[in-house]
Amino acid sequence: MKEILHELESRREAARMGGGQRRIDAQHGKGKLTARERVELLLDEGSFEEFDMFVAHRCADFGMEKDRTAGDGVVTGWGTINGRMVYVFSQDFTVFGGSLSETHAQKICKIMDMAMQNGAPVIGINDSGGARIQEGVASLAGYAEVFQRNIMASGVVPQISVIMGPCAGGAVYSPAMTDFIFMVKDSSYMFVTGPDVVKTVTNEVVTAEELGGASTHTKKSSVADAAFDNDVETLSEVRRLVDFLPLNNRSKVPVRPFFDDPGRLDSSLDTLVPNNANTPYDMHELIKKLADEGDFYEIQAEFAKNIVTGFVRLEGSTVGVVANQPMVLAGCLDIDSSRKAARFVRFCDAFEIPILTLVDVPGFLPGTAQEYGGVIKHGAKLLFAYGEATVPKVTVITRKAYGGAYDVMASKHLRGDFNYAWPSAEIAVMGAKGATEILYRSELGDAEKIAARTADYESRFANPFVAAERGFIDEVIAPHSTRKRVCRAFASLRGKALENPWKKHDNIPL
Ligand code: HXC
Repeated sequence: MKEILHELESRREAARMGGGQRRIDAQHGKGKLTARERVELLLDEGSFEEFDMFVAHRCADFGMEKDRTAGDGVVTGWGTINGRMVYVFSQDFTVFGGSLSETHAQKICKIMDMAMQNGAPVIGINDSGGARIQEGVASLAGYAEVFQRNIMASGVVPQISVIMGPCAGGAVYSPAMTDFIFMVKDSSYMFVTGPDVVKTVTNEVVTAEELGGASTHTKKSSVADAAFDNDVETLSEVRRLVDFLPLNNRSKVPVRPFFDDPGRLDSSLDTLVPNNANTPYDMHELIKKLADEGDFYEIQAEFAKNIVTGFVRLEGSTVGVVANQPMVLAGCLDIDSSRKAARFVRFCDAFEIPILTLVDVPGFLPGTAQEYGGVIKHGAKLLFAYGEATVPKVTVITRKAYGGAYDVMASKHLRGDFNYAWPSAEIAVMGAKGATEILYRSELGDAEKIAARTADYESRFANPFVAAERGFIDEVIAPHSTRKRVCRAFASLRGKALENPWKKHDNIPL
């Protein structure tokens, strides 16, 4: 028995060494951790239970039968993050460059199947040269098996992708179908075709970093949700994100102990909105002042900054926040902000996370770029996402809510449960100046008359009371009491039951 135990330990030891010390050193030399070190950092200490440590590939071409490293380039298993279960796979770049073989794919599929069956998130750490070139179509089949599972798991268990090295070609489509993508600055990249192919086909000269690095994907393409300086920081941010998420679509949002009075009043909010309607203020300030302990986990902070999305906790329970940001493009809706917020709203709805919407929106951004880019279709995404969402929805209009954007931003008409407005709210078809210029076009030459008309329009419509008279606003609330009102509103909605009519699936304007 002793000998057998000894052999087990030496086999385990060999598997843990992956592609060997030389390649581990090379990985460290690039400032990257190994697959196992990443898993250890991601999960609670000592919680990792590994699967398939001894799985080896079955390829016998190109002399591959002589190199059958145990584990086949991916470490898989489950463990806990702050005591809550997650499944994980971590590609090992030291073994055939982390490339995906038939058996490598089978290992990933196994833990994805278990995650679905047992209702826990899947976290995939990607660091791979793509399809195992020696295996050909068997590798492509393996990718497609993973893709199919990404699709089936979507909306059932949260899926998080962490890009910590190369992720290229068709391999990008697995992360692309997951809920969140995190990247590491300067050591990860994602693209469908690399710089060499780009040069050949389009004659563009571009580096891998420019084409698909973290900056590109968090600021330009919006493929990635966040990027951090190194492996350690990235993995600790994944842990923070997981703390906000439910384990699956049938479990409730996690409730953490909280040390912030839900009835806390904040008098500084009474002066947050400037007297001049065109002066911006930072919506982050309001979000942080409403959140438990001021803790806000922002998603896509670097993209479409005219809308802010992320998670807070109220009375310890996760709430998704969508907020117009007056500091950027006056907080208007456009193609990018609509897409960003729509995806976030749909994630929240899929996983029963209540949504708080903070509104200060002057309307949709005008221009040919927007119209040619399909702002009609993209704006409709956000409208659609809010309208189909059945989770508790609480909305606070702080200032402007103009035109179609008023309807879109979780209005009463889209089944908002609590629609509050601050006394500074202006709910109208458009701003006073624009309105008078259309209504009184013939008087445009007379500045005095127009000023009087504008003042008249403002006094009649630039307030929340016309909407409140109709019941479109449930209550006009004092800014300083917003946290208390919002917490009470969500508390009252914990038993909310609302279902959409049966359908195979909807046809959201993609
Ligand atoms: C097998 C691979 C491999 C692959 C890398 N390796 N990629 N082995 N299949 N796809 C091996 C290398 O031979 C090398 O082995 C080790 O991994 C490390 O690779 P290096 O090239 O030394 O590392 P580096 O210089 O850091 O470059 C990394 C890289 C490069 C940029 C990823 O390796 C590369 O370009 N690989 C090929 C990428 C590719 O074209 N893949 C197929 C894409 S198509 P040794 O023994 O020397 O350590 C695709 C389709 C997916 O993925 C379709 C899904 C539908």
